[in-house]
Amino acid sequence: MKPLVVYYSNKGSNKYLAKKISDTLSCDIEEIRPRLNVFMLFLMNIHLGIKPLKSNIEDYDALILCGPIWMGKFIPPLRSFVKKYRDKIRKLIFVTCCGSPYKKKDEKFGHGLVFKEVERILNEKCILCQAFPVGLVLPDGQKEDPDAFMKTHLNDDNFKGEIQERFDDFIDKIHKLPS
Ligand SMILES: Cc1cc2nc3c(=O)[nH]c(=O)nc-3n(C[C@H](O)[C@H](O)[C@H](O)COP(=O)(O)O)c2cc1C
Repeated sequence: MKPLVVYYSNKGSNKYLAKKISDTLSCDIEEIRPRLNVFMLFLMNIHLGIKPLKSNIEDYDALILCGPIWMGKFIPPLRSFVKKYRDKIRKLIFVTCCGSPYKKKDEKFGHGLVFKEVERILNEKCILCQAFPVGLVLPDGQKEDPDAFMKTHLNDDNFKGEIQERFDDFIDKIHKLPS
């Protein structure tokens, strides 16, 4: 399978994760560039879409879309990307470094609800969704503490232990997907 990683990141964790995926799979990577990149406006759902991708999506068997979750939402830069290229996407894997832990994935701000929305927009084209809650890199006792995980960003020093194991499993799953 020849995938392309596309990502949007505000504070860097999803950029780090996207790069790690593309390095591990030795595949191309491109950043999603909103026409208006203003975080506060995104939170109010005010956005002007995204600039065209430089890569040709039709050259790839699958897209690995990586980005954060804010306020329980599939955020405007990612949503604009999916809507703009929906017809050209063959298969999509959605990956997020988010705040919500696995245990709370189906709560109001959980990543599970966003996964359902991505699946609803893309139907059978969405073949896999995977969350890497940032709390995975925190010590026990802080893993679900919003104050702690809001201040934490993925980097080479903290990407080890459970998050690395889950990342290796995720890469394994991708290798096993039919081409
Ligand atoms: C304003 C704001 C709202 C957030 N809301 C959620 C949320 O509803 N659910 C969640 O899982 N994470 C939430 N997060 C956590 C981010 O998804 C997490 O910090 C992510 O790693 C940031 O990615 P980035 O470093 O690539 O920008 C929120 C973060 C911010 C700043």
